[in-house]
Amino acid sequence: MQRVLITGTAGFIGFHLAKRLLSHGVRVHGFDAMTDYYDVTLKRRRQEMLLQSEGFSVTEAYLEDGSKFRDCADDFKPDVIVHLAAQAGVRYSLENPKAYLDSNLAGTFNVMEAAHAHEVQHLLLASTSSVYGANTQMPFKETDQTDTPLTFYAATKKANDAMAHSYAHLWNIPTTMFRFFTVYGPWGRPDLALFKFVDAILDDRPIDVYNHGDMYRDFTYIDDLVRGIHLLIDAAPIRPETPDEVPDGDSLSPVAPFRVVNIGNSEKVRLMDFIDAIEEHLGKKAVRNYMPMQKGDVPATWADASLLAELTGYKPQTDIKDGIAEFVTWFRDYYQK
Ligand SMILES: NC(=O)c1ccc[n+]([C@@H]2O[C@H](COP(=O)([O-])OP(=O)(O)OC[C@H]3O[C@@H](n4cnc5c(N)ncnc54)[C@H](O)[C@@H]3O)[C@@H](O)[C@H]2O)c1
Repeated sequence: MQRVLITGTAGFIGFHLAKRLLSHGVRVHGFDAMTDYYDVTLKRRRQEMLLQSEGFSVTEAYLEDGSKFRDCADDFKPDVIVHLAAQAGVRYSLENPKAYLDSNLAGTFNVMEAAHAHEVQHLLLASTSSVYGANTQMPFKETDQTDTPLTFYAATKKANDAMAHSYAHLWNIPTTMFRFFTVYGPWGRPDLALFKFVDAILDDRPIDVYNHGDMYRDFTYIDDLVRGIHLLIDAAPIRPETPDEVPDGDSLSPVAPFRVVNIGNSEKVRLMDFIDAIEEHLGKKAVRNYMPMQKGDVPATWADASLLAELTGYKPQTDIKDGIAEFVTWFRDYYQK
């Protein structure tokens, strides 16, 4: 039975990934500190649900505690590590950059050390479309340069690319770096737009619409995302014997078993259409509070997900209206609104 250590299992994506792997007979150990960046009750509920599975166990601790993480890996003996725990969120990185330094740099270092010590078959780490920074050429491709991060969050994730590449090269750790685009769905994060909009509309509060609504996002439905991750677990990169072996359009490093893969829907949705779809599902109009662009934000994200399709034969495709409907059903049931 495959043994997968997942960091961030009380979080939105980690919870869904653990659930999927458990339902496919994988043994999962979670690692999460239950940070109070958002509602800890939601995190506890996710964790309680996972603990109902026999194949799931968990360690509650901070990644920055390197010996704790090492002990956890020593006890569990993972074949694969999926590192999803992080201080996430673009906007909060303006308020509390130190949280990103601690979780995303020191924390990720400890995960890489454990991956090295255990000679895991595959280390997979979460990065973000935010690393494309000020790039305007769309859709974003993994081989595009990422030299213009616009927030400290993006900078820490870009640093993770470099850190993980060095370990992949030095210690021959097959490593995949995901770039996620705006992920949404049931059990989603309270700090993200869909949650905030639905909550505000149901409570008759206005919603803040940034850049006067002139924004586009590549929204990825959570089930599509975790399916993509699951498939990529079995697609560990192999170090090419010569740089010429790297296929055109592949982000595979010429010198290490290291690859970057976008997981996105390959479709950009206008913010205004997104809000219209939410209103339609709620049967209620939003009061729109038009605002200027926020510092550090980008007007558009859009994934080229052809490498994911090439590697796994899979293409995320949930229609945004269906995904919003699933979220709204969960939200109304969970919060009894
Ligand atoms: N959700 C998205 O739209 C999105 C988009 C791009 C990238 N990402 C990345 O995907 C990953 C998962 O995101 P998510 O949406 O599930 O976020 P999340 O905040 O819901 O989950 C992260 C989990 O990590 C835990 N955590 C944070 N810092 C920790 C630390 N120092 N030690 C131990 N645990 C810690 C938190 O308690 C939380 O449960 C993150 O790396 C994030 O940067 C997410």
